[in-house]
This record gives sequence, C-alpha cells and structure tokens, in this order.
Amino acid sequence: MVKNKEALLEQIKADIVKNNICPDLAQEATNLVMGDGNVDAEIVFIGEAPGKNEDVTGLPFVGAAGKFLNEMLAGAEMVRSDVYITNIVKYRPPNNRDPLPDEKEAFWPYLVRQLDVIRPQIVVTLGRHSMEYFLPGKKISMIHGQPKRIQFGDTKITVVPLYHPAAALYNGSMRATLIEDFNKLSKIIDIQKQEKENI
Ligand code: URA
Repeated sequence: MVKNKEALLEQIKADIVKNNICPDLAQEATNLVMGDGNVDAEIVFIGEAPGKNEDVTGLPFVGAAGKFLNEMLAGAEMVRSDVYITNIVKYRPPNNRDPLPDEKEAFWPYLVRQLDVIRPQIVVTLGRHSMEYFLPGKKISMIHGQPKRIQFGDTKITVVPLYHPAAALYNGSMRATLIEDFNKLSKIIDIQKQEKENI
C-alpha cells in the first residue's frame, strides 16, 4: 500500500527517535519539532533550530521570529497553511545556542527525507545554518534574495537564501533587506509555476 505524506513524515519522526539522534539535545528537549504546514506545499521554509516557544509547543516558528515570519508571509499574500515550515535541527539547543556542525549533520538526512516526501519546487533557507547545506561555500551577505537552481537528489529545486527573521528582527537595515527579499518570493513562485506549465 502507498503511504500518504502524513504517514511518511510520521515515520521520519519515529526514525529520529529510534535512531537516537542527538541524545544530549533530546534529553533536554520537551518536543521533537518536525514541521508544520501544508505537506503538498510548493514552497518550504527551513530555519535553524527550535527556540523556547517551539520546544514547548512542538511547532516551528511560533515565537517572536515566527510572528515576524507570519507578517512577511501576509505581506507576500501567503498564510502558513500555504507553505511548509521546518528547521534543519529538530531539537532545541540549550539556551538557544547555535546548532553545532555535528548536530546539523546528524539531522540533515532526515531533512532530505522530509523534502523527498513534500517535493517542493522552492526551498527558502532562513539564515546561514540551513543555507550552507544547499549552497555550500556561499556567504549569505553576498547571495541573499537571489534564487539558485540546484540539483537535489533526482530533481531540480530553486533555493532562495534569506536572512534569518530572528537576526533581522531588531536590526533596521537587515530587517528592511529581509522584507524586500521576501517580497520577491511571489514573483519567483509565479516564474516557477509558468516554467512547470511550459514543460
Ligand atoms: N528560529 C528558528 O530557526 N526556528 C524556529 O523554529 C524558531 C526560531
């Protein structure tokens, strides 16, 4: 029997637990924060790791950075249920420290599996921690807001690197840049749709 997407995503979650990924983080965490939104979304947003509010609720981007993300989605005429939102690291690092290279590496295969289930056309990386896995060796200050077509497994996807909403929240110029980059997303989605229709 072919499993539906929800069941496949649940299986990925179960495998993270079964394979004891990042036991130190798991021990401290309240919840394994897998993702939220539309499993058929054409666009997936990928942040860094859950913070305190995300750890408590089990949902990504529900704190201050999440509110800012919701505002930017609204500005681009989208709502959370149009998109799928997740993080590279699925447990909260203690005191909201940056995720370690080993932690990102340990969770990366599970993010690849999530994307393989959802099959989005566009991946938006929020901050450098998820960007570096899709666009290795690039600097976010040089390439933010610029869509890049990459081969991802057996398919091609468009990656749009954006600054992280938490970094931009209280930094006037970064905030303006992030909003400007965000507003280009609708155009990128339209171009993507047109290209798909022309295939
Ligand atoms: N920051 C992130 O990168 N992810 C979240 O889920 C919340 C804050």
